[in-house]
Amino acid sequence: MNKSDLITEAARRSGLGRRRAARGVEATLEIIKSELESRESISIRGLGRLYLKSKRSGFLPALSDGAAPIPIPAGKAVRLKATRKAVASLNTEPLKLDKNATKSGGTMDKKHEKETEAAAIEGSALGLDVGTSRLVLASGTTDHIKAKAELNAFITVPYSKFTENILKQNKVSYQLNGGQALQVYGNEAARFANVFNTEVRRPMMGGTLNPTEEYSLSVMQAIIQQLVRKTKNGETLRFSVPGALKQGGSPDLVYHEAMLRDLLNSMGYNAKGVNEGLAVVFSELERENFSGIGISCGGGMCNVALAFMSIPVMTYAINKAGDYIDRNVGQVTGEIPTRIRTIKEESLDLSRVPQNKYESALHVYYDDVILSLVESLRGSLAETKNLPKIDKPMPIVLSGGTAKPKGFLNKFQQAIERDGFPLEISEIRLASDPLTATARGCLIAAMYDA
Ligand SMILES: Nc1ncnc2c1ncn2[C@@H]1O[C@H](COP(=O)(O)OP(=O)(O)O)[C@@H](O)[C@H]1O
Ligand SMILES: [Mg+2]
Repeated sequence: MNKSDLITEAARRSGLGRRRAARGVEATLEIIKSELESRESISIRGLGRLYLKSKRSGFLPALSDGAAPIPIPAGKAVRLKATRKAVASLNTEPLKLDKNATKSGGTMDKKHEKETEAAAIEGSALGLDVGTSRLVLASGTTDHIKAKAELNAFITVPYSKFTENILKQNKVSYQLNGGQALQVYGNEAARFANVFNTEVRRPMMGGTLNPTEEYSLSVMQAIIQQLVRKTKNGETLRFSVPGALKQGGSPDLVYHEAMLRDLLNSMGYNAKGVNEGLAVVFSELERENFSGIGISCGGGMCNVALAFMSIPVMTYAINKAGDYIDRNVGQVTGEIPTRIRTIKEESLDLSRVPQNKYESALHVYYDDVILSLVESLRGSLAETKNLPKIDKPMPIVLSGGTAKPKGFLNKFQQAIERDGFPLEISEIRLASDPLTATARGCLIAAMYDA
């Protein structure tokens, strides 16, 4: 929206003629400008805070094909830090996070010294999905999000000068552990587990830091540092945290979140946790006004959030997911879980009849996970008090690695339809990219908080 649009809108809403509306808008902008010159910020109750910030350096897109991009002029820009409540209550139409929609103020004076930009397109925000299986970092702008992932795993091999040299030659990052052992972590851990014929170890288990693993925090730190650098600028980073287990018994959740927050804060970020299911709502349900059910089926847990206009109404987790499937299929077929995981990831198709004993068992445990998930949803919705009166059917979005195999969506749909569901559902769909949905949602949360 530019100034002319703003005047048109003010005229429409106030019933004033265009010229009078223009004078009102001009006067308001003049007041904001002069107030901001004399003090740090202006608080507007119910909306948020307007403040001045140096413009980011960089380029605006070229005006025509082939033309050079335009450098952003130096100076200060007026930014709006909207409260989350304001975002939800003002947002009567679908929130658009694209460039045009978020430059809501337009240029405020003719010399282009100042421009209003919603904080939503802040380039320095980061989203980090801290999963039991993988850590995924999302960065960039809303119309161009980049994601990269590291395996949340490590191996320890006895120290020798020879091994250390091999690691150095292969440019593999490692930690020395008191001189006794070498730790290889992240994506390289899987490769080296094969080379050294050992199993990978996991810093996290069942969704939170692994209490039986003494190196869990130091390894997580090393893996996180593969993805994000230390910073001095206090960039906003939002990381995913699981919900409380529906069956109870999640004593580590507070500790888990606090340890990660401290770790990321000590790296210079302004870090805070976001519920994992809610992150899926942020990344996938923008068109539905951030209203609906977001589900992330990962390695350790399935996380669920029901949100209404971006506000979480119900969040929880169950501890049956990918690892549960691998462990149980391994047990009944006499195979090691790592091997089951490979079969599952490389060739499982839940839409066709099982071809061998591994696939038969995988079908059985997938059905078990899906049934538990759907039952937990029915139960939680029935238990949740003060559910908002939702007059529109709600969408459900499925994400996470465990939702990847062909046929998963169909099985989930059948389980929902089989015994009915307490909410009217508009659509059940898979996330656009199930492996990055949580990280992308964390990034969007970070952009709003920046
Ligand atoms: N293509 C795939 N098919 C089936 N399962 C997969 C696939 N990719 C990943 N997985 C499984 O998904 C789980 C990890 O999902 P992810 O969303 O990365 O989890 P987390 O949040 O726990 O890090 C693991 O159990 C993994 O085996
Ligand atoms: Mg996850």
